[in-house]
Amino acid sequence: MYRIFSIRSKKRGIIIVVVIALLLFIVWRLIRPMNIFIVDDRFAWPIDTSLTPAVLGQLSAKECAVCHQEFYDEWQTTIHSKAWTEPYFQTDWKFDGSQHSCRLCHTPLDRQQPHKVLAYRDSDKWDPVLEDNPDFDPGLQHEGVTCAACHYREGKIVGVIGNTNAPHPVKKLDDANQVCVRCHIVEGDKWDTFFRFPPCGTVAEIESSRSQSPNKKTAKGSTGEHLVSNSSSLGCVECHMPLKRRSLVKGGVVRDTRQHFWRGGHEPEMVKKALTIKFDEQKITSKDKRRFIITIENTGAAHYVPTGTPDRHLTVQLRVVDKQNNILTENMNIIRRNVMWRPFIIDLTDTRLARGQPRSYEIKISDSQKAVSVEAVVRYHLLDEKRRKRIAYENKTPIAYDVFRQKIALDMK
Ligand code: HEC
Ligand code: HEC
Ligand code: HEC
Ligand code: HEC
Ligand code: HEC
Repeated sequence: MYRIFSIRSKKRGIIIVVVIALLLFIVWRLIRPMNIFIVDDRFAWPIDTSLTPAVLGQLSAKECAVCHQEFYDEWQTTIHSKAWTEPYFQTDWKFDGSQHSCRLCHTPLDRQQPHKVLAYRDSDKWDPVLEDNPDFDPGLQHEGVTCAACHYREGKIVGVIGNTNAPHPVKKLDDANQVCVRCHIVEGDKWDTFFRFPPCGTVAEIESSRSQSPNKKTAKGSTGEHLVSNSSSLGCVECHMPLKRRSLVKGGVVRDTRQHFWRGGHEPEMVKKALTIKFDEQKITSKDKRRFIITIENTGAAHYVPTGTPDRHLTVQLRVVDKQNNILTENMNIIRRNVMWRPFIIDLTDTRLARGQPRSYEIKISDSQKAVSVEAVVRYHLLDEKRRKRIAYENKTPIAYDVFRQKIALDMK
């Protein structure tokens, strides 16, 4: 009798300990600081600028502009030049605890960072050993993804031409897309993450859209080395840096060059270029029921639309209105990636548009007496209103805009 009782209570004790441990684990997962990606060796170390030749001065874009004015003027209009100062980034960065790792892509040169990275304490590299940086240049920090972020390596300027008469040392790069890979992919391949694509998985999305069946292939194993060696077919430069014949410097040799524009989600015209949208009526099936269908297809981007941070999304709104403009029927569809962040990171759904895979949404009208028109509105959102409020981002520029709007008047007989 006594023995059985003691085994039972021992068993119960073990169960209670296991349950408490499990609960503590989950609570910790819910409140822990969240590192959604691994700080890969590709960008973990600030770019060492100690060998800068005198002709490049302090490496500021303004110094490049002395000779390459047009390239500077173009770069200045881009989000790369604002990658540090941009208010949404600044708000988000502070909300997230001002982590060092964010500087590695938004201000990648060592002199753009107030601290030197000596080592990392953890294998995911989220906990750097930092030391004050005597060479820190706050002016250069404000240039964000500045010229040298892409062009300066080991005392030389990297470029794809290679046989110019430049006053600065030049290292020839075989493929211009290699430049983009450093920052435009982050990986999340850890035991506790279950991503189909890494967060900001633009490069992996291109790989996936190219493969026959995108759903079978996971981003795992198709990132890292393989992608980097395959960079020439990524096409980033072809789509994001339009070709222009001109000289590199005033009075220089005229060559094929690329405009430094990098338009994306902040540019309505660029987003419109990515999409082919058609809105019309389907063949009438019955006299008092009509169907209107909007078809939206990614025909202009090799990656998903939207791509980049999971904040970006599209909404497709369909509505039927009466004479007084009252909404009779309405439906709202969201094209976005939904990630569950806690307690584990899991890709819940992803309805974004892969290249060449059209998507349709429809609205039916039954009450045809009162309805006078049917309207479709497609909007691009840089982030949603809920998140804007949560991080207290007071936007001065719109966070959403129309990319398509069409009203069809109903023919009433
Ligand atoms: C004193 C003038 C001068 C300055 C300063 C200067 N460059 Fe140049 N750069 C040139 C000239 C001249 C060429 C060659 C033009 C030619 O032959 O068509 C050149 C060529 C280049 C090329 C093409 C190399 C290739 O082979 O593809 C790149 C890229 C470049 N410069 C970037 C920069 C950047 C970035 C900076 C600032 C960090 C900079 N340059 C500063 C004068 C300058
Ligand atoms: C040093 C890191 C870095 C490199 C290298 C880099 N980018 Fe970026 N890129 C960024 C960051 C950071 C942003 C976002 C800045 C922001 O919005 O605050 C960005 C934004 C963009 C955007 C979005 C514009 C928008 O409107 O949202 C495009 C397009 C882009 N980059 C294309 C490229 C291409 C093409 C290359 C290669 C030629 C490249 N980038 C190389 C860091 C980089
Ligand atoms: C986001 C990365 C990035 C940034 C930032 C950047 N460039 Fe470039 N730049 C490139 C790439 C990629 C090429 C090669 C384009 C090609 O295929 O010809 C290039 C080419 C050039 C060339 C050679 C002409 C050509 O088109 O090949 C010059 C000159 C140049 N850049 C100057 C600058 C200057 C000056 C700045 C800063 C004001 C700057 N770049 C900023 C990525 C960048
Ligand atoms: C076939 C053309 C094409 C190719 C190739 C392409 N892009 Fe794009 N990209 C677009 C278009 C069009 C858009 C605008 C639609 C959008 O923002 O989703 C865009 C948008 C973007 C954005 C904006 C995302 C944001 O957050 O606002 C980024 C970043 C970007 N591309 C990076 C890249 C990189 C990096 C590569 C190469 C690995 C690349 N693109 C290759 C056409 C292309
Ligand atoms: C591996 C490089 C990399 C790192 C590290 C990185 N970013 Fe970015 N970030 C990018 C690129 C590239 C873009 C633009 C393309 C996109 O939308 O994905 C971007 C865009 C953003 C944007 C959108 C800005 C806009 O204009 O709408 C915010 C906000 C942002 N990053 C915040 C952060 C924060 C906070 C961290 C640190 C936790 C961080 N980033 C770390 C590369 C990086």
